[in-house]
Amino acid sequence: MKSLSQLLSSIPPSATLAVNDKAKALKAAGRDVISLAGGDPDFDTPVPIVDAAIAALRNGDTHYPPSRGTIALREAVAAKCASEYGLELDPVRQILISPGAKFLIYAVMAALTNPGDEIIIFEPYWVSYVPIVKLVGGKPVTITLSAEDNFQIRADVLARHITPRTKAILVNSPNNPTGRVLTTAEAEVIRQAALAHDLYVISDEIYEKLIYEGRHINLASLPGMAERTITVNGHSKAYAMTGWRLGWAAGPADVIGLAAKLQSQSVTSAAAFTMTAGVVALHEVEEDVAAMRRAYKARRDFMVQALNALPGVACDMPQGAFYLFVRFPGLGTDSMQIANRLLEEADIAATPGIAFGQAGEGHVRFSYATSMHDLERAVERIGRLMG
Ligand SMILES: Cc1ncc(COP(=O)(O)O)c(C=O)c1O
Repeated sequence: MKSLSQLLSSIPPSATLAVNDKAKALKAAGRDVISLAGGDPDFDTPVPIVDAAIAALRNGDTHYPPSRGTIALREAVAAKCASEYGLELDPVRQILISPGAKFLIYAVMAALTNPGDEIIIFEPYWVSYVPIVKLVGGKPVTITLSAEDNFQIRADVLARHITPRTKAILVNSPNNPTGRVLTTAEAEVIRQAALAHDLYVISDEIYEKLIYEGRHINLASLPGMAERTITVNGHSKAYAMTGWRLGWAAGPADVIGLAAKLQSQSVTSAAAFTMTAGVVALHEVEEDVAAMRRAYKARRDFMVQALNALPGVACDMPQGAFYLFVRFPGLGTDSMQIANRLLEEADIAATPGIAFGQAGEGHVRFSYATSMHDLERAVERIGRLMG
């Protein structure tokens, strides 16, 4: 047989797969494995959104929608950007609706990147960024942030990684996996670098609605940034809609136009009835979102307090998302080994920090998008493991 795609073959399998496969095997063998490894809210999608989708299906909302998304949803996104960020956007030319934020990151990257263009990514990073940059022919340039420095983005370190080939900086706040929220000082570091070197910024703000302390900064709304920033966001996390596949991007018309071209020649569009329901999500479920946020905060507070009370465990207080980035000095610094011991000796599935780049080594990521009951059981088991 002729050889398959060298590009796709060169992308290594995710470092999380080994632990996930082992967790599945243990579960299949009857072990009561508690999974703290996922990024999927344990809540059901709020009822008004589900009802809107069912009504849309009954009303015949089952045909090809406009490729860039229904005008109603693009207008709802534009209205949100105006009221929450003070950003004035043309819903027709500057907003793209896609089946999920992940595809949008891919489409936006494809729109920005020529072969060899460098994209700056801060470590620890969400696992899909590096493969996506490689898939569009770009060169990921990772900046290893330091755990000792609380993973802060510093101007001098950023400056050292900018070259004439740098095209864009990818930013993610609130952050997966650390739960950190970008500070005003860090946002200014990114803004200054982008303006000084004429760079694009891709701002992945998918955890925006899950902030427990501090304030969300929409990078596009900072002075001079609207023309060079593409905001990527979506329905998955805030509205517990991961399986619906719905996300949006907002930015300069030419970038959005090219990303829309990729969409129209590949996946065509998001599904029609999900977009109808997606409008309801943006307008009518604020109280449901607030209730989920309160629940996540209670879980976070419980977990951080309970983990830090155990010997050989250390966990900083994250301000957002639904992840804890935990160190186990009592078990060493090899994150694969720590994740394996948690799985084999405590029946807890967690994601090894190395999956998020070198900066993640020494940590494991716990998701608290799972019930308080399971979190309490997990802490008990970790307590027994740590003796
Ligand atoms: C940082 C980050 N960006 C994007 C996504 C993708 O979201 P979606 O479900 O909209 O594709 C995720 C999902 O885990 C994420 O953690």
